[in-house]
Amino acid sequence: MQLTAEERQMLDGSQGDAVRLAMEILVRVGDACEARRLIPVRSAHIVLAMYKSIFDAGVEVCEKFAELGGRFVIPTTLDPSGMDTADPAGFKTPADYQAKQRRVEAAYHKMGAVPVWTCTPYFCGNLPRFGEHVGWTESSAVAYINSVLGARSNRETAIIDVCIGLTGRTMDYGLHRDENRLGTVLVRLDLGGRAMRDEEYPLLGYHLGKALGSRIGVLDGLRSDPSNEQLKALMAGAAASGSVALLHIVGVTPEASTLRQAFGGHEPQAVITVEEGDLSGVKKALTKEPGSPIDLVALGCPHYTINEIARVAALLEGRRVKPGVELWIYTTAENALLAKQMGYLDILEKGGARLTVQTCMLISPIETWGFQTIMTDSAKCAYYAPMQCHADVCLGSVEECVEAALTGIYGGGVDQ
Ligand code: F3S
Repeated sequence: MQLTAEERQMLDGSQGDAVRLAMEILVRVGDACEARRLIPVRSAHIVLAMYKSIFDAGVEVCEKFAELGGRFVIPTTLDPSGMDTADPAGFKTPADYQAKQRRVEAAYHKMGAVPVWTCTPYFCGNLPRFGEHVGWTESSAVAYINSVLGARSNRETAIIDVCIGLTGRTMDYGLHRDENRLGTVLVRLDLGGRAMRDEEYPLLGYHLGKALGSRIGVLDGLRSDPSNEQLKALMAGAAASGSVALLHIVGVTPEASTLRQAFGGHEPQAVITVEEGDLSGVKKALTKEPGSPIDLVALGCPHYTINEIARVAALLEGRRVKPGVELWIYTTAENALLAKQMGYLDILEKGGARLTVQTCMLISPIETWGFQTIMTDSAKCAYYAPMQCHADVCLGSVEECVEAALTGIYGGGVDQ
């Protein structure tokens, strides 16, 4: 790998031991990825953050970089914490687990990370511009910023993300390069002339992740003007079931104002048609049978925005979650504050729901609650929850989720 004079000094240790170690890692991994050089990046986002998935080794890595004097040189945000940061005990987080998570917090505080603890940092102060190179982990966020904003990041990995923040550099390969960003598979959406429904975005994402794997699709025929929240749900589903890091959406993605632009003037290598039955098939595959008792309704994967919180508050107002059932909404500390100021928190709490901040259902120890069946509106959550939470899952619209919280039963809606 060719390094600049400054990068050679970083590798020699002239900028301290943490930078030296981070550069050693980047250069070795870069060589393995056949990157010819490093490139400067404007921000980093770190997934090496939650004790449930980084374990003791991850805690030690964070502390090692902090002890070596590491200090982030670019804006560096953090993925969700392994526990509700405001009320870990109230969410039954074991004491030893809390202590480990606090050590991670302390290490990142020392290094100057921005403690947003969210998988939606692009809604929370870390907003890359079109064409900007960044070094991010968190598959849903990487897919969002490449596909919706036209920023450039590979799906980086834990530890590499810390190295990127400490050096302000990443390896120049993959989606950082023009030639690797062109679409190769045409995805024709054919819903019989109708527009996508809100609850179909995560289903479409999940279906495309399976169908595309790591290929770059070009989605045509959306026939709607999706909101940021719908795009967030679409990208999270695609990045969970496949390795999707960039999906061109004609008319949405800055590099895909036309089909021709998205393919760079080339012919697609393959064509996929997606129909209504493909979407209902995803729901069916990720859902236990209608009539299943539900003991947790978990919303907010990725983290809910204030608009999504408002929608749940409107659905719940004047009604009450069934005793024995929990309704939790995962969000950021900033949105929780807004929800309080706007009166939504009051409505939610009166209805028996709870906001849980800066964490999520998959990477916090919710097994301590012994939930049997979780209901969610997120395809990503539905995909991972059986493994991560040791529970069965039902997937449905937000309305179905709230209804399940009120009745304790998943009512159906799946085409049989
Ligand atoms: Fe975010 Fe957790 Fe889902 S990190 S994308 S809420 S799995």
